[in-house]
Amino acid sequence: MTTIRTQVGIIGAGPAGLTLAHLLHLQGIESVVIESRSRGHVENRVRAGVLEQGTVETLKESGAGARLQREGLQHHGIELRFDGAGHRIDFQELTGKSITVYAQQEVVKDLIAARLAYNAPIFFEAEAMRVPNVESSPTIIYVQDDIEHTIECDFIAGCDGFHGICRPAIPPAQLHIHERHFPFAWLGILARVPPASEELIYTYHERGFALLSMRSPEVSRLYLQCGPEEDIENWSDDRIWSELRLRMATKDGFVLRDGPIFQKGITPMRSFVAEPMQYENLFLLGDAAHIVPPTGAKGLNLAVADVRVLARALVDFYRSNSNQGLQSYTERCLRRVWKGQRFSWWMTSMLHRFPHEDSYSHHIHLAELDYVTSSRAAATALAENYVGLPFDTPGLF
Ligand code: FAD
Ligand code: PHB
Repeated sequence: MTTIRTQVGIIGAGPAGLTLAHLLHLQGIESVVIESRSRGHVENRVRAGVLEQGTVETLKESGAGARLQREGLQHHGIELRFDGAGHRIDFQELTGKSITVYAQQEVVKDLIAARLAYNAPIFFEAEAMRVPNVESSPTIIYVQDDIEHTIECDFIAGCDGFHGICRPAIPPAQLHIHERHFPFAWLGILARVPPASEELIYTYHERGFALLSMRSPEVSRLYLQCGPEEDIENWSDDRIWSELRLRMATKDGFVLRDGPIFQKGITPMRSFVAEPMQYENLFLLGDAAHIVPPTGAKGLNLAVADVRVLARALVDFYRSNSNQGLQSYTERCLRRVWKGQRFSWWMTSMLHRFPHEDSYSHHIHLAELDYVTSSRAAATALAENYVGLPFDTPGLF
């Protein structure tokens, strides 16, 4: 059993915890990261793929963006497809900005490599069990190899995702939960076949939503709307490809070639916000505090935005003894989080079929998509949210 003392105890080595640890290190603030899973597990967990321009700039500015810059696929627009035809939303022309397709697990690998290179503490297979004394002297009790250890710190950063222990450690009477469940899920695959389009295609179809994305010039990432209780065993590779072809078909003969599927999974869809995101010296970041349905590609990006706010507040605290930033943490994060919630909810509602929709609802979907793709004002509203709204402070520190 050991006791370590640090300034910031970080629970979780996902994008939020690792980015926070990295930014704090650059500012001379010590932290210890603990992660319940193995390094191999977090470096191979397949999740998000789209980085907003601001997320890319944050990583580049922090020195962790070299591989992202080399290998990330920069995109200047997306396609919205409906009624058998595609319509491009040109981000570059409408906003002057772009997005980058780069898998979440690659961001995680880059940040772990950076942390190990400067020899800062990060413990894998170390599970936080409790976070006592957050009001006075915050402590993390964690277990590694069946032995209990303690981290004493000034602050705890709860970056432990939706199922972590930090949010439940806040007294329920202090916490408001705002939540929405969607009556569908996404079936996602990775396939070894060149992407059928250079840009992402979001498709609305009477049979449900479909999305074509990619990971590299050789690997496609595709998603299909399915029932929330769907069993992946009922989806053979052939069934997945034929359903994708049906939904993505165009009047001018779009061709979707198939290839070996090497990963598949089902993700439920939910919107969730915990308010406040702070209790005494415990701060929640990323999925620990909020979840969005993936249609707007906002999950990881919102996590990085929280990190920027907390990192800056901690720098102000340690440098200038000011706790103004710490006190306004929730308010500053939630302004962006709620805009991300609104955008993800809107994209999800526009592009998916809800149970028992009739011909009236179908025509409302089509009219909304027609409007978004034919009005410059509406297309700009989509584009500026998709590439990422500006941060409330332009520089990192
Ligand atoms: P996480 O990445 O969840 O990291 C939390 C970390 O904390 C994990 O490594 C976990 O193992 C660790 N942890 C948990 N409990 C403990 C504990 N007690 N002790 C120590 N460590 C602990 N977003 C998109 O934009 N597009 C997508 O396509 C997309 N797909 C997704 C698919 C799935 C299955 C999931 C779950 C999420 C998906 N997201 C997607 C959301 C996006 O991946 C998340 O928003 C992002 O991972 C948030 O990062 P985070 O660091 O806050 O949390
Ligand atoms: C992905 O590539 O995984 C991806 C892209 C766009 C989304 C969601 C997921 O909206």
